[in-house]
Amino acid sequence: MAGEKVTISVIKADIGSIAGHHKVHPDTILAASRVLVEAKKRGVIKSFYITHVGDDLQLIMTHFKGVDSPEIHETAWKAFQEATKVAKDLGLYAAGQDLLSDAFSGNIRGMGPGVAEMEFVERPSEPVVVFMADKTEPGAFNMPLYRIFADPFNTAGLVIDPRMHDGFIFQVLDVYEGKIVELSMPEEMYDLLALIGTPSRYIIKRVFRKSDREIGAVVSSERLSLIAGRYVGKDDPVMIVRAQSGFPAVGEVLEPFSFPHLVAGWMRGSHHGPLMPVGLKDAKMTRFDGPPRVVALGFQIKNGELIGPADLFDDPAFDETRRTAQVITDYMRRHGPFMPHRLGPEEMEYTTLPDVLEKLKQRFKPVEMGYKPHVKAPEEPHD
Ligand code: F6R
Ligand code: MG
Ligand code: MG
Repeated sequence: MAGEKVTISVIKADIGSIAGHHKVHPDTILAASRVLVEAKKRGVIKSFYITHVGDDLQLIMTHFKGVDSPEIHETAWKAFQEATKVAKDLGLYAAGQDLLSDAFSGNIRGMGPGVAEMEFVERPSEPVVVFMADKTEPGAFNMPLYRIFADPFNTAGLVIDPRMHDGFIFQVLDVYEGKIVELSMPEEMYDLLALIGTPSRYIIKRVFRKSDREIGAVVSSERLSLIAGRYVGKDDPVMIVRAQSGFPAVGEVLEPFSFPHLVAGWMRGSHHGPLMPVGLKDAKMTRFDGPPRVVALGFQIKNGELIGPADLFDDPAFDETRRTAQVITDYMRRHGPFMPHRLGPEEMEYTTLPDVLEKLKQRFKPVEMGYKPHVKAPEEPHD
């Protein structure tokens, strides 16, 4: 219907995977598909595409029920539950790990799965790109989003397309305080960078076009909010970006990913590593449970229907990026348990530090003035 708003919802969860945290089993995808086929028949959703990146099951859905619709969230929850049943039957690893609660209470946010949703009036031709990353955190999209919507060295349109020349508004979430702030580009560029350069705390949540406040991008950030009053930490993120005709072109949207920048996550959610763009066939985690990877699927939305996808990083144009990422992987790995490969103590998902400190408590002695080592240094030889 003309003027009717369509919603695209990307909802993801790790409900268990094959061979450790490596990749989703096809039978769990099948189980989730059955639920979405049923929802489509009942007219709850208009269309869907199910896929996976690493150990995360990804539900990409279009519908007319708006953002945060209880019906849509319940459908996703059911799909994850059915997939979890299969994961348990097959003895898959960490079966049901992201379904933090047994009962659905109207909104999937805060229950474990990650959600990125946006609602808009469909343009005559509506290209969108869905990014899905594994073994990293939502702040991993800070640098690419900045480049896409604020960096004229990446996005030529900011300079030479009159429809984008006014710039974009960035919504930034402070995940420690649970607060959101809006900054206007390019005037407040330095303020924005002062925040988003700390991607573990300040996360770009949404981007709007300044001239008409049309939404351009949204990132998932559920786990980063306080779940059950506790900061839970990282979550493998998803992002939706609208492209073309007054938004950055698809080529401008993909371009930042040609630089495999360092992101937090990787092994045990406790290491920095390069973000490697891959096609779906390579969306699996191996080296040190990584390296962190990102997939980009391009769709057209027509009358609310998802047309596609195009597997955008499945392309030799990103071979050199992947090779660079391999070199960085080797380089970072050689640091072993040392920072900055290993994350700082406040960001690690696994740590033994409190136990080690407790064990050594009695053995830590005050450093006295004039402290001398017990072992005597050998005398200086005299001529
Ligand atoms: C990181 C991740 C994996 C696991 C690692 C240890 O997000 O999922 O790197 O942290 O494989 O897993 P457990 O503790 O389940 O043996
Ligand atoms: Mg996992
Ligand atoms: Mg994962």
